[in-house]
Amino acid sequence: MPPSTQSADPHRSDVPDPSAASAGGDPSSRRTGPEHAGPVRPSADRPEPGSAASNSAVPDRAASERTEPDRPDPRPGSQRPSSQRGDPASVDPGALGPDRLEQVRLQASAAIATAGDLDELAALRTLHLDGRGAPLALARRALGALPPPERAEAGRRHNAATAAIRAAYEARLAELTAERDARVLVEERVDVTLPGTRRPLGARHPLSALSDHLVDVFVAMGYEVAEGPEAEHDWFNFEALNLGPDHPARSSHDTLYVDPVGSGLLLRTHTSPVQIRTLLSRPLPVYVVCPGRTYRNDAVDATHSPVFGQLEGLAVDEGITMADLRGTLEVFAQALFGSGLATRLRPSYFPFTEPSAELDVACFACRGEPARQPCRVCSDEGWIEVGGCGMVDPNVLVACGVDPARYSGFAFGMGLERAAMIRHDVHEIRDFVDGDVRFGLSFGTGN
Ligand code: PHE
Repeated sequence: MPPSTQSADPHRSDVPDPSAASAGGDPSSRRTGPEHAGPVRPSADRPEPGSAASNSAVPDRAASERTEPDRPDPRPGSQRPSSQRGDPASVDPGALGPDRLEQVRLQASAAIATAGDLDELAALRTLHLDGRGAPLALARRALGALPPPERAEAGRRHNAATAAIRAAYEARLAELTAERDARVLVEERVDVTLPGTRRPLGARHPLSALSDHLVDVFVAMGYEVAEGPEAEHDWFNFEALNLGPDHPARSSHDTLYVDPVGSGLLLRTHTSPVQIRTLLSRPLPVYVVCPGRTYRNDAVDATHSPVFGQLEGLAVDEGITMADLRGTLEVFAQALFGSGLATRLRPSYFPFTEPSAELDVACFACRGEPARQPCRVCSDEGWIEVGGCGMVDPNVLVACGVDPARYSGFAFGMGLERAAMIRHDVHEIRDFVDGDVRFGLSFGTGN
């Protein structure tokens, strides 16, 4: 804001600064005096103490130092007579005498030279060098009371004493800093040759790795991943999948029900309820792959577990045929056991697919060749049963509000443990849940 606008403020003082007069009245060179080399400010910025504008938010530090009543100074060395404060009557020109200054220098230098540590040195600096109550500061205040010729001489003496004390301070500072650094180096020494703490690497769980690998293969074909709850409602797990309350296939699932009886909740016996949830929630066409944990009331043995993983696939679109299922399963079989393996569909039955089939893949170990048999992988069958599949039963589509006259689809599902056991020649399903890191590591730490 230019000064002219400022002076239009009725609360601002337009009283000219007295120092302006001594500077020849030129507003551009107004200064507070020779000692003040601060920026040039228009006089309206420095109102007289007591004027309305002097109550502005920015305190005038010089003014407050002048008018502040004596208060005990909390800093070391402040126990000087209050008469030595800035008030002109207490100014003692004798303090600038050569002997007095020499005495100040000697005392200060001696104290500084014996400072025990950096904290003590910092306190001594305030006491002897920078503090408002330091003898040097008090002596400096007396300069103005001397006539000019003496003042110059005394000023030089004062400067010399100040420089000598500062030099003593700097010297001790260098010593104490070096001492401190040397001590810290010893105290905080780190032996970089000591062996570090090695954390043994774990491994990805082989089932997660297999599931992720298969999911990747389907995602690459344009499928989405769908998931559903493990505690599932009867309707999604059975009813909508064409297994009515009295359907005999229900018993083959050995279902684990969730209390209270009648809640309709159970632990899902397969991932197929995710088909239903998908058809009800996603717009058609639908291409999803559903990995997840499933439960059956099975006794544990080398090849059975009440908790196991499945991976399900579902495609519902216009014009989907069994040929699409076949081609998709071939890609799937290759992802599981390697390329170049024949697949076959064996007629089977599932309530939610019609027609239904079992997917077999040629045995990757013997390929059905008698010369490579006996074969531990397929027991000389030449084929490995991988999972169930089929064309989605129209009743399932109807239950999900999908028009079977317009849409058709296929579905398939397989057990993850079984696939992993065949693929990696694992003979004991419990190895997957024992949590022995050596088992996991035998599949590699990566994927
Ligand atoms: N849900 C069937 C099972 O758990 C597998 C399956 C899925 C079969 C999809 C056909 C289609 O045995």
